Amino acid sequence: ELTADLTGRHVVVSAGGTREPLDPVRYLGNLSSGKQGYALAVTAAARGARVTLLSANATLPDPAGVDVVHVSTALELREAALKAVADADAVVMAAAVADFRPAEYATGKIKKKDGVEPAPVALVRNPDILAELSAHRARSGQLVVGFAAETDDVLANGRAKLARKGCDLLVVNEVGGGKAFGRDTNSAVLLSADGAEAEIADGPKESLADAVWDAVVARFDKRV
Ligand code: C5P
Repeated sequence: ELTADLTGRHVVVSAGGTREPLDPVRYLGNLSSGKQGYALAVTAAARGARVTLLSANATLPDPAGVDVVHVSTALELREAALKAVADADAVVMAAAVADFRPAEYATGKIKKKDGVEPAPVALVRNPDILAELSAHRARSGQLVVGFAAETDDVLANGRAKLARKGCDLLVVNEVGGGKAFGRDTNSAVLLSADGAEAEIADGPKESLADAVWDAVVARFDKRV
């Protein structure tokens, strides 16, 4: 069944993973596929939202009925996000954003020299887009949602991250050994700044996406 409970809302979703170039042919990147972010975009559109999808290097086709903005680096994602959130009701940052980027970009391919160890690559911090969007809401009542992958002390780390980032909701993906819950499968916990905590059962990424939108809609209803 389809509930159009996001009708009249503009939502912004980031997906994929940023790439931070070293030279014309190399980058620092991550393994994010973009599937979770795309599932969030598709489910929001199905629920009636106008959706802007900020796609960082995902190789998935542009979903029908969604405005897709393609970006590559964290700085490009930040620019696109600041622009897109101006009139957004909710922002969900599902993209894996590189914490660091190479301090310098070599315009020519970096060469190896036989018998010479390379100099270490100097890195600089990228801005934390989620923290910035949370601290400077483009609209009052705008809901900001983050994602976090944690291997240990999932709940404690998740709660600390939620507070540090200043977002309304944080979807904590349990990755790795899953010690905290004593199982190997990935699962998610939805933490809320209002104190609510809910487990999201293992399942397809669309189910997790719907659970996130359910939580967002519930908070719209409280605020409006
Ligand atoms: O700090 P950590 O990378 O675990 O936080 C993950 C969350 O923060 C994700 O929602 C991600 O999109 C966002 N993030 C960001 N800018 C960064 C790093 C992470 O928006 N530089």
